[in-house]
Amino acid sequence: MTQKRDRWGTLGFIFAASGSAIGLGNIVFFSANAYKYGAGAFYIPYLVAFFVLGIPIMILELGLGNKMQRAFPESLSRCAGKPGEFVGWWGLLSASFITMYYITILGWALGMWVGSFGGLWAHPGTVAAFKDAGKMAFSQAFFYHMISGKGVLIYVPIIWLLNVLIVWRGAKSIEEAVSIFVPLMWIMMIILILRGLTLPNGIQGVYRLFTPDFKIIFSDFSVWHGAFSQMFFTLSLGFGIMTAYASYLPKTSDQTNNALMVCSMNCGFEFIAGIAIFSLLFAFAIVPAGGTLSMTFWTIPRGIVQFPFWHRVFGVLFFTLLLMAGLSSSVSLFEAIISAVIDKFGASRKKVILIFAVLGCLGSFIFALPTVIDPKLDGCGTLGLTLLDMIDHWSFGQGLLIVGFFECIIVGWFYGAKKIREYVNHHSNLHLGVWFDIIIKFVAPIMILVVLVFGNLKDFKSATVYGSSYISGHAWVAGAALGIWLFATCAGAAVLTLSKTYEYEGEERRGGEPDAEGKSNDE
Ligand code: PHE
Repeated sequence: MTQKRDRWGTLGFIFAASGSAIGLGNIVFFSANAYKYGAGAFYIPYLVAFFVLGIPIMILELGLGNKMQRAFPESLSRCAGKPGEFVGWWGLLSASFITMYYITILGWALGMWVGSFGGLWAHPGTVAAFKDAGKMAFSQAFFYHMISGKGVLIYVPIIWLLNVLIVWRGAKSIEEAVSIFVPLMWIMMIILILRGLTLPNGIQGVYRLFTPDFKIIFSDFSVWHGAFSQMFFTLSLGFGIMTAYASYLPKTSDQTNNALMVCSMNCGFEFIAGIAIFSLLFAFAIVPAGGTLSMTFWTIPRGIVQFPFWHRVFGVLFFTLLLMAGLSSSVSLFEAIISAVIDKFGASRKKVILIFAVLGCLGSFIFALPTVIDPKLDGCGTLGLTLLDMIDHWSFGQGLLIVGFFECIIVGWFYGAKKIREYVNHHSNLHLGVWFDIIIKFVAPIMILVVLVFGNLKDFKSATVYGSSYISGHAWVAGAALGIWLFATCAGAAVLTLSKTYEYEGEERRGGEPDAEGKSNDE
């Protein structure tokens, strides 16, 4: 029996892939990164990354999954054997760290959502666990109070449970969820941007966001590093997600068109969100404190509470938007892992889901650890938050780009950029030229490598351990985080790669082409 692969319905793929791409990355991380790197200095490297990396690598990941009809590790294995498979598993494992803390953040967003019905806005601004900290903004205090309390022990499993329900029946149940979430996300975002732009002075923020700052662009490589990582993250590239999702499409579908639609929907959403947030910051003269999470949980509520009317409604709306966007992203990586394990071991879907949900939930708990390690608050909070920041430095900041580099090498050189281009062109209206091969084989990997090396120099030189603001005096956490990340990804990927691959009957195995060009096994 040939295994029957899941299939998307008519709009299922576009909803699911854009739902995966549109997430916290678009709604808050883009603005927070833009702010961190000096607003106008950020979007030009970001646009370069969009055209040179985003679109071509999206086509590559979709084309690969669609051609091989397999999840990420198995698809790469068909290009370059065991080393390819290793890269695939390594990428998935590194990205699962992101998903674990992403779900912790969604657990916190759920806590804020509950608070936004009342408690959040009325918080007195002090936190019992941080007595020395003095008065804080209500939202910051509410956030610390929540994450250092026991509530997270309920919020995190709730988010995992929702993930399990959404992936339970594969493409079908994912499609049902995202076809409700994605349209709602657009509606909520449009309401928020209209609110932001109609605030007095709001438009000033937009000028700030879009006035280029060439001095920083040409002198500071870390801006480029930030923009490149953000591009991979926001488009869900380097996670193995798009390859898995495209493997649920028939071989007759148009991958260039799909890639262009997903990329432009995602980055359009991101710009709209950036405008909404920058107008909010400028309208109320709020200076965000450093990181992405403070932007999400303290700064934005501080703006919302100053709305002339209905701040509760807008608060609930904002956190609902975060939850929907976050869920449609987290399920995509969950699905990428499930489909990879099923492809490799021929295992039962439900069993794989339950095992990984339990493991993942434990992981998310670690990032939610409420232990306060820095009561003075100069280092910001809990042990979980500190670990999150450290692992984020590796999985988000380095891991995605490392995977991006290797997938260009494997598909570009071992499989052949030309072959994947011809495959994609076979069914697409828009034909890719030789430029695609040049980007995949040379331009993208060289740019990623340069940015990985030079973008990190500042961190290596400075005494701060890997850029963390949370670390003050706890260098062991940084060492532990790097150790955990490296060990879990390398050892895990090695074990998975060397395990025996389940042989599906009626299938040609590695080395040969899975089937004739343009024909699918099960259509
Ligand atoms: N693209 C997502 C975002 O912008 C990132 C992501 C994807 C995170 C999948 C986790 C899992 O938020």
